[in-house]
Amino acid sequence: MQSSIKTSAVEALRCGCALVPVLAGGKLTAGGTAIDKVLGGALSNALTGGDLAAKAGSTLMLYGQPRGVARVVLVALGDQANVTEKAFTDAARAALRAAGTLASTDVVSLLHEAEVAGRDLDWKLHTQVVVGRELAYRFDQMKSKPESTPFKPESLHLLVPRAGSAAAERAVARATALANGTDLAKDLGNLPGNVCTPTYLADTARKIAREFKLKVQVLERKQMEALKMGSLLSVAQGSEQPPKLIVLQYQGGPARQAPVALVGKGITFDTGGISLKPGAEMDEMKFDMCGAASVLGTLRAVAEMKLPVNVVGVIPACENMPSGRATRPGDIVTSMSGQTIEILNTDAEGRLILCDALTYVERFKPAAVIDIATLTGACVIALGAHNSGLFSNNDALADALLSAGRRTGDRCWRMPLDEEYQEQLKSPFADMANIGGRMAGSVTAACFLSRFTKAYDWAHLDIAGTAWRSGANKGSSGRPVPLLTGYLIDRAGG
Ligand code: BES
Ligand code: MN
Ligand code: ZN
Repeated sequence: MQSSIKTSAVEALRCGCALVPVLAGGKLTAGGTAIDKVLGGALSNALTGGDLAAKAGSTLMLYGQPRGVARVVLVALGDQANVTEKAFTDAARAALRAAGTLASTDVVSLLHEAEVAGRDLDWKLHTQVVVGRELAYRFDQMKSKPESTPFKPESLHLLVPRAGSAAAERAVARATALANGTDLAKDLGNLPGNVCTPTYLADTARKIAREFKLKVQVLERKQMEALKMGSLLSVAQGSEQPPKLIVLQYQGGPARQAPVALVGKGITFDTGGISLKPGAEMDEMKFDMCGAASVLGTLRAVAEMKLPVNVVGVIPACENMPSGRATRPGDIVTSMSGQTIEILNTDAEGRLILCDALTYVERFKPAAVIDIATLTGACVIALGAHNSGLFSNNDALADALLSAGRRTGDRCWRMPLDEEYQEQLKSPFADMANIGGRMAGSVTAACFLSRFTKAYDWAHLDIAGTAWRSGANKGSSGRPVPLLTGYLIDRAGG
């Protein structure tokens, strides 16, 4: 689905389907009223007929004129005087979904004529493009022939007045770039572990680098040994797949400006290692590289937007497998930082690969470091599927991420990092253990990481509950690409 801005007069509009918002009390906006006039009062007749429920997201389809506006989807924005972000997003999704079942391929939307409390036109355009692309997303590449029905609308035109259309064009271009980055993250997440290996992630990084002229470097096992990344390598040693440390750099800002570093957990399959996971739902551990996927997706998005910021993405990528060469519970390893770790549970491997990557990023003198990881089942229990867990050693950085999350609808919720939790990581034999017991599992995981991030402002996003959906609609969500990209847009000055 292609999105674009259209500036033609409503009276002269020709399209397969127009999306028209209906406000509280069955009121139409200016554009809706104009279409109603052209169609001889068909819209107001339908509204008086009472077939459109007031609830946000209710829809009603009418036929217009084959040579003009051929169809209209009326969509309710709710019966409150103030349209909320959620009501608008729900309405946009419902309207586009309704349009998606029709035979027409070109859709014109007027939904953004409705006021949304606290949000501007830019946000409303952005939301529609992103929601449309979500509905259009399919993952068919592993099927011998595609069996899902494609999303019909080929183009989504957003109708705006000619004045201000340049800003609207930019909003649509940015939303499209974000959707492209999110789709990349989804594809990587959905690919199975036998395809999406550490090598595959490295090749994907090289492809993005080629297409968008970024700098890419892939460190091999030898180089990681030279850097003394004993913790990362201890996870990789049970696998036949060679580990990769992927470094992808985007320079959109002045060369001297300190970059934001994004560090993504890239476990391409997590069996648990010798501390083997139970069999049920283990297939979902192919999603254990969704942090890495979000780093690649975000870099693709900001590079396509040409955002004036510097970003360095660092991805420690390997598999967590049991084998004769795998780490045993009780083994002690030395991290790149020099700190020693007693590995009491080989299934707590994410923190073991991240800690060395977090030490490695010090060399970029980053303005801020954000790691993204499907780190703990405990975070899924704490926050479910709606909010990612946010941990940070810096309040301003945490607030910036919270705010970007609210704006993009890709929310996170701040969790504590108090000193007291650190005690759970005590080991009688090494500087620390890699697990902290049953209590506050997502907090002790973050505490473990905090021991490697003292040199800079740092935030950790635990995306174990948000990166993919389980059950009948199993699949990667592409999160938190919208949150990270939103944060970087804010850093770039909006
Ligand atoms: N990748 C998992 C975390 C995970 C589990 C995410 C289930 C989503 C759903 C991680 O590597 C892991 O296994 N964590 C352990 C840590 C524990 C051994 C301290 C966990 O959460 O059970
Ligand atoms: Mn694990
Ligand atoms: Zn894992």
